[in-house]
This record gives sequence, C-alpha cells and structure tokens, in this order.
Amino acid sequence: MRPPVVLLYFFLTCETFTTSSEPRRRVFFQFKESVNLSSLLLRDDIGQLVVGAKGKVFTLSLDNIAEKTSEAQWMSSSEDKDTCKFKGRATEECHNFIRVLHTMEDGKILVCGTNAFVPTCDYLSFKYGNLSFQGYKTAGKGKLPYNPYTRFASLVDGNTLYSASTTNFLGTEVLFQRHTAKVVKTGYGPSWLYDPTMISLSLVEVSKSSLDGEDDHVFLFFTEKAVEERRYNIEVSRIARVCKSDLGGGRILVDQWTSFLKARLDCPFGDAGSHTLVQDVFLVHNQSNWKDSIFYATFTSNSKSSGCSKTAVCAYKLSDIRKVFSGEFLTESSNLCWDTSTENQPSPYPGSCINNEMRAQGVKTSLLVPEKTLEFMNKHRLMKSVVTPITGKPLLVQTEKQFSKIVIDQVTSLDGRQHQVMFIGTDSGWLQKAVSFDGEDSRIIEELQLFETPQPVNSLKLSLKTGQLYGCSNKEAFQINVRDCSRYTSCDDCLLARDPYCGWDQIRDQCASVVGTSNGSMIQSLDDGDIRICPTSDMKPAIVHLSLGAAQFLPCSPQTNLPVSWSFSNSIRFPGPQHTVLSQGLIIRPSFSDAGLYTCETRETVKGKVHRKTVIQYAVQIQDNNSTVMNLKVAVITLAACCSLVMFFLCCCCLIRHKKAKRQNN
Ligand SMILES: *[C@@H]1O[C@H](CO)[C@@H](O)[C@H](O)[C@H]1NC(C)=O
Ligand SMILES: *[C@@H]1O[C@H](CO)[C@@H](O)[C@H](O)[C@H]1NC(C)=O
Ligand SMILES: *[C@@H]1O[C@H](CO)[C@@H](O)[C@H](O)[C@H]1NC(C)=O
Ligand SMILES: *[C@@H]1O[C@H](CO)[C@@H](O)[C@H](O)[C@H]1NC(C)=O
Ligand SMILES: *[C@@H]1O[C@H](CO)[C@@H](O)[C@H](O)[C@H]1NC(C)=O
Repeated sequence: MRPPVVLLYFFLTCETFTTSSEPRRRVFFQFKESVNLSSLLLRDDIGQLVVGAKGKVFTLSLDNIAEKTSEAQWMSSSEDKDTCKFKGRATEECHNFIRVLHTMEDGKILVCGTNAFVPTCDYLSFKYGNLSFQGYKTAGKGKLPYNPYTRFASLVDGNTLYSASTTNFLGTEVLFQRHTAKVVKTGYGPSWLYDPTMISLSLVEVSKSSLDGEDDHVFLFFTEKAVEERRYNIEVSRIARVCKSDLGGGRILVDQWTSFLKARLDCPFGDAGSHTLVQDVFLVHNQSNWKDSIFYATFTSNSKSSGCSKTAVCAYKLSDIRKVFSGEFLTESSNLCWDTSTENQPSPYPGSCINNEMRAQGVKTSLLVPEKTLEFMNKHRLMKSVVTPITGKPLLVQTEKQFSKIVIDQVTSLDGRQHQVMFIGTDSGWLQKAVSFDGEDSRIIEELQLFETPQPVNSLKLSLKTGQLYGCSNKEAFQINVRDCSRYTSCDDCLLARDPYCGWDQIRDQCASVVGTSNGSMIQSLDDGDIRICPTSDMKPAIVHLSLGAAQFLPCSPQTNLPVSWSFSNSIRFPGPQHTVLSQGLIIRPSFSDAGLYTCETRETVKGKVHRKTVIQYAVQIQDNNSTVMNLKVAVITLAACCSLVMFFLCCCCLIRHKKAKRQNN
C-alpha cells in the first residue's frame, strides 16, 4: 500500500488563521471555542459550503474552504437553555446544534437546530455574500431529534421535507414522515419501526423514465430490532420503501403510509451469526435506466463472541430491491414464529406505487386504494425475501477500521468506460479511495489520514463542479482534490496505480487527470497496469569500478515498497556465493567474470502478468587493487620505521637532559 499522500486539505478548529510549515498542502483554520460541526450543505450554485455548527451557520468558499465567507448566529435563548437543564439534560446538550440544512426551490436554505431540546426551523438566504435568517421560526418537532447525539435522516424533494427521526423529548417515539400540509407518517408499533436507528433517505425518480407512469419511490435505510428473529433483541439492517405521492388511506391508514414496505438488507461478512449494521448509503442514479441505479452502503459488524470488528461496503441494484418488494410477505403465526403469509394477496398488489394501469382502474391516489389491499397492508409490512448485494458479497471488507460515510464518483476513463470510485470515511479519520474493476475484488488506490487526531468522518460531499471532496468531523473540515494525479511522478507509477482519474500525458511528461480530456497524448492501462506502453526511458547505466575480491555495495532503493530483484547481463543468477541481496542493494565480492551489466528492478504481478520496472543499472568493471595494496604495505612499514626512529631520538634527548640536570644539581 502506498504511504498516505495528503493532497489538499484544510482544518477548521480555531478562529485564528494559521498556516503550518509542513506538510506543504495542509492549512489549519481554527475556532477559539469548540464549534461542533453538525451538518454540511454543498452549494455549487453559489460556490459555498454551508456548515451548520453549535449556535451558528457559516459559509466557506468552495475554492478554498480555509476562507470563511460569512456567518449567521442562532443561539438558544437562556430560558430554553435553563428549561433544558432543569429537565435533566447536560449543559453541553442544551445548545442549538444546527443539524438540518437543505436547499429549497427558491434557493433559500431550510435550517433546523436542536435548540436546547426545543427543535426549531427557520430559513436562511445568502445574498450579496451575506447569510441572513428570515426570522420566521417554525416547530422542528419530528424534523430532527431533540437530542443532538441521536441519529436521524432527512431529505428535501422540491419544497417537501421527508424525515425519519425521534419525535419527543425522551427520544422514545420515532416516525418516518412527509411534512406537507397533509402530513403522512408511519404508525406506532413493531410492524412499522421497532426501536430503530435512522440512517439515510433517498429518492428515486421513477416517473421521469418509467413508461408506465409509476410514482417515484422514497427509500429509508435504518437498523431495528428484528421481530422475525426468535432470539430476542437482535438488531438488523433494513430498507423500507414508500411511494412519493402516497396520501394515506381513505378509511383505514388515514394519514399513514399505505405503501410502507420493509425488508432485511443483507451484507454478508464477519462471523457467522453476527449481524451487520448499515452506516451510510449513497445512491448512484442511472439516467438511462432507473432500475439499474445502485445503492452503495457501508456496514459495520461487531462480533460479541470474538471481539473482532469488521467493516464492509455492499452495493444493491434497484431492480433486485424491486423484486423483493413485489414478492411474498412474512406474517406472525402462532407462538411468535414468523412464516410466509398464506393469505391471498389482493389486487392492486399491496404497497404498489400508483401507475397508469392502476389509474385506468380508477385508483388515482392512495385514498382510493381498495380497503382489501389496505387491510392486508395493515397486517403485512415485512417482506419474506432479503435484499442481497450485487454478486452476493461485499465489494470491500476490512478489519480493524470502521467505515462511516461513503460517496461515489463516476469517472469516465480514456477508453470511454464508466468507473465507480468509492470514497469511504472511517471513524478514525481516514479516507479510503477504492475502485472495483469487472471481475476483480475492489482495490484501495489511496489512503489518506484526514485529521491529526483520530475522529470520525461525519460527512462527505462531492462537488462535480469543482472536482473536490468536502467533509468534516465534529471539529474539523477538509477539502481534497479527487482529480489530483501529481503524486504519481513516473509513467510506470501512473499506470501501475490503475487510478481511473489518472493517465500519463506523453507530451507534458506528467501524470494528469483524464476527467474531461479527450487528449490523444494521454495513455492509461486500467485493466492490467501494462507499463510496456509507457514511453521507453533513456536511462543510462552507471559505470562503476569494483575491486577484485573485496566486498562492495551496489545500492538500489525503489520509491515503492515492491520487492526488488537483480539480474546480471539479463540473466538472473543471484544469489551466488559472492552475492548477497539486501533490501537496499547488492553486496558483491567480485571475480573478473563478474564484470557486466547489473539491473535492479521491481516486480509486480497484476492479473497473472509480471510487470518489471528498472530502478537502476550498473555497468560493472573489475580491477585488481593488489598493487595498490602492496604499495600501501610498503607505506605502512616505512611509516612505522620513521616513528621508531623519532621515538629513539626523543628518548636520547630526554636521557641527555636528565643527565645534564643531575650534574647541575650535584
Ligand atoms: C461538541 O464538541 C465537544 C468537544 O469536541 C464534544 O465533547 C461534545 O460531545 C460535542 N457535542 C455534540 C452535541 O456533538
Ligand atoms: C454583509 O455583512 C457584513 C457584516 O455583517 C456587513 O458589514 C456588510 O455590509 C454586509 N454586506 C451587505 C452587502 O449587506
Ligand atoms: C446504466 O444502465 C445501463 C444498462 O441499462 C448500463 O449499460 C450502464 O452502464 C449504466 N450506467 C451507469 C452509469 O451505471
Ligand atoms: C493535449 O495536451 C497537450 C499538452 O498538454 C495540449 O497542448 C493540447 O492542447 C491538448 N489537446 C487537446 C485537444 O486537448
Ligand atoms: C581500487 O582502486 C580504485 C582505483 O584506484 C579505487 O577507486 C578503489 O577505491 C580501490 N578499492 C579498494 C578496495 O581499495
């Protein structure tokens, strides 16, 4: 694995701006007090990253997030803070943590904060470079949790907010709802949500591309206790689906989702029997065929038996999810056992989103769905089948680390193919960049340590406009250029990295981003990292004179940590008795027959093919230093003789002086 290379990133922890001396591309930007970064909103249209924090919202320039462009304060009133503390909450929790930031149709920003356990929303506008609150506050109950630490999910479609959140002070009630004039929501009880943790909401726009006029889908990802598990208190990952235009039922399920279906979300890794819990989800839309859209999700697993933690990324195709949601249902039979429902499934199929066919039958809205279907829905919400990942296994599994956030960038390589590059944040502040090529396990192309101290990556946002990835932990924000290829300094390194962003520019002689180029001068070899297509280097061997029979050292230190091997006049004949291969070079005790060309090269096997890369070459000539040695011996003997002579004279002098002194004394 390559050593972490830091491309361009900025820290945000204290108000005074300081620039550290090294590493070069690191800029610190710090706040005097802890700001608790709680949400991020990417606004390519105004070139700003909007950051929700404790008691304030501020904007950072997308070009350089070390540059704070504006700030608007929104603190909780002292009465609200006092009430919060009086009700038994810790002082730290009794502030206004801004956790919801969404862009509305008119460009205003919906802002909701926990407001010392009195969740409240307002709108912000960004005009002439300044943020200003509209000042018309509305209740945020159900839109975000009261507790700043509780996980939740929210989504805005047009001007409509969807949220999945706790809805009371104690955090005991949880609802998934749509906030329109007519609120539609989940009901209470395990058939809806069973002690859930909300993770993510996604909208899939079906109506735009489906020929049968089907309604859009909203997907909710969460974890909850499994009613269907015999063992008590087992937590599992779930995916739930509702239809966007669901208005609730006419006589039953009034103001409740008539289309809420849920299924187990499987990502098989970790020890047998351990459950894997979804942490974050990113949807990659397929514009040409919505059914080929893919959800990428991070998971963690904590095996209580072995104490070993694992983490993984799984990908799910929408068409597979769709099959599960049009399949059989589970139902509770006697003695707490869950079985396939044998009840006749009514028509229209329970949980279907309204399409042209249903409209033709007079079912134009959910209010008109026949009671038989709704009665069935009221008893059955859990699908029998499990949603399994593409290829049945995770794309990536790791131990020790815990993946938190994930975003995917789609990169078109020089040959016109699309590659999904994953950026995955961990809970210890690392960022991994990974890609999977067809029929291969995912490879990590790069690993970066984002923060000086380990802290979870809480948010990742990718801007296609600037080609930068933005993100934050609780304390610091960073910016990284995902298209930077300058860390690969040679053509070989550039191609061997098999980084879809990067290609070798033969004219400028550098590794550069291929995004948006259609440049004939660039080369790439993503499938097998074939460096033979690199322009041949005109490396000249270094001429060295070695002495016969004496141990001497030929250094070879490649920049990568790939294994090195030596060859002599193009044949590998090492190690021989007169050669010792070390990691930094070759020790040789040559005879005259050892004169010739020595090549040190690195080898990497990619897909069964061996790629060799010359690090250094020596043209070795051997000479006999015996005569020199003889001369040296003579010199040593002469020197010794001289010394003896000098000593002799000195002694004589001493003796004479001594005698003289004695005589004078007498
Ligand atoms: C706010 O930040 C402090 C210091 O990092 C941390 O101890 C505290 O838990 C944070 N509060 C929230 C609500 O995240
Ligand atoms: C923006 O806000 C700053 C500080 O509050 C103020 O000095 C400046 O006049 C404002 N600019 C405009 C155009 O409103
Ligand atoms: C979209 O789906 C089509 C098949 O329907 C597939 O060929 C194409 O690669 C997909 N595009 C992306 C970006 O995944
Ligand atoms: C291709 O790259 C070279 C060198 O970077 C540049 O001079 C040339 O304009 C580029 N051509 C195109 C079509 O982009
Ligand atoms: C042998 O002689 C060459 C040239 O005179 C010299 O550079 C080299 O250091 C000598 N080697 C030894 C081991 O004395």
